[in-house]
Amino acid sequence: MSGLAGRRVLLIVAGGIAAYKTHELVRLLRRAGCGVTCVLSDNGARFVTALSLQALSEEKVYTDMFSLTDENEMGHIELSRAADLLVVAPATANMLARMAAGLADDLASTVLLATDTPVLVAPAMNVRMWEHPATRASCATLAARGIRFVGPREGAMACNEFGFGRLAEPAEIFAEIENLLVGPRPLAGLHALVTSGPTHEPIDPVRYLANRSSGRQGHAIAAALAEAGARVSLIRGPVALADPPGVHVVRVQTAEEMLAACRAALPADIAVCAAAVADWKIADVAGHKMKKSADAAPPVLRLVANPDILAELSRAGASRPRLVIGFAAETDDVADNAQAKRARKGCDWIVANDVRAETGIMGGTENQVSLVTEAGIESWARMDKSLVARALVARIAATLGSEKQSI
Ligand code: CTP
Repeated sequence: MSGLAGRRVLLIVAGGIAAYKTHELVRLLRRAGCGVTCVLSDNGARFVTALSLQALSEEKVYTDMFSLTDENEMGHIELSRAADLLVVAPATANMLARMAAGLADDLASTVLLATDTPVLVAPAMNVRMWEHPATRASCATLAARGIRFVGPREGAMACNEFGFGRLAEPAEIFAEIENLLVGPRPLAGLHALVTSGPTHEPIDPVRYLANRSSGRQGHAIAAALAEAGARVSLIRGPVALADPPGVHVVRVQTAEEMLAACRAALPADIAVCAAAVADWKIADVAGHKMKKSADAAPPVLRLVANPDILAELSRAGASRPRLVIGFAAETDDVADNAQAKRARKGCDWIVANDVRAETGIMGGTENQVSLVTEAGIESWARMDKSLVARALVARIAATLGSEKQSI
């Protein structure tokens, strides 16, 4: 889950040609599980409609035509109180000046004056307006009051001029909202590749070889990496789980397909191979359903080795991810086997778990793992798979963070 899930933003849309970009911002916030209530100013309503914002936010949009019915439903105090953050986008020169002066002559400005919730503004205006001493003074006043700014950016503007005044891109505003509400994200800017779930190796068009992996641990790791700011490609075998939000998901069936999808996802900074990849596939997959018959002996399935994805990623030369992490599903001598596996596969870390049926780990919701690194082996307490994922991601962030510092 994104760290924004369950949080709420009150988005104030002021007038300006850039108002159309708030559609994308609302879409990004909703996709991250963040609730969005929009207040559309009179001038904003000249550029975008309440209907479009309502469709995207899936909530009532409040306008300057502030009726008594609205006041009954939710007064302006309640509107801001229900939010974790107020965002003004686009914030025009006029809106910034009114905020600085403390005016309260419409719904948007009244909400902004009546709140002690943090406020983020994303200015957008003509470059001369942005550089005008009046706007400079408004911005200085607002910044001194603790109002946060994102943008404006330099670029070509709708008025055919070039300079500072362009609204920051929706993705940048979204990142700043995340930064303010969730805190700095240690893996921002990094690409992580995660494999998850079992693979299905076909025997004939209706039968396959599989295993008991549920994909829960791999999916939880993908979600935790995304929450920490990484761009995540999740390559997953057949599982019954929902896609984690904010993650690019590639669906595969077989080990061969999983390997091809991993190759296509490179380059990556981090690879976590949590999938329970079938070690073997059927040598001769029947093109038609195999039929039983009273006089013929049952078929003998001939297996051949599947490619080892973890080993290939660990030895990928120039395109090797900086940190390659494998799992070791073991039923005996967990620590020894995991250490040997780390050396054999050439990966940096191994997350070892005991998958004997009585542990209930394979296919269950909890995991008890040992982390094998160059420094040795450490055993973690048994906990929910989502907590194992968070602990592993915290360790990844600490390791890559200290690498960054030493560069
Ligand atoms: N793995 C892989 N490709 C394979 C087999 C395994 O990428 N064809 C990865 C798994 O995702 C896991 C690690 O290798 O990260 C170890 O998987 P595991 O099943 O524990 O070990 P195997 O390599 O299959 O070795 P063995 O069955 O002998 O224990």
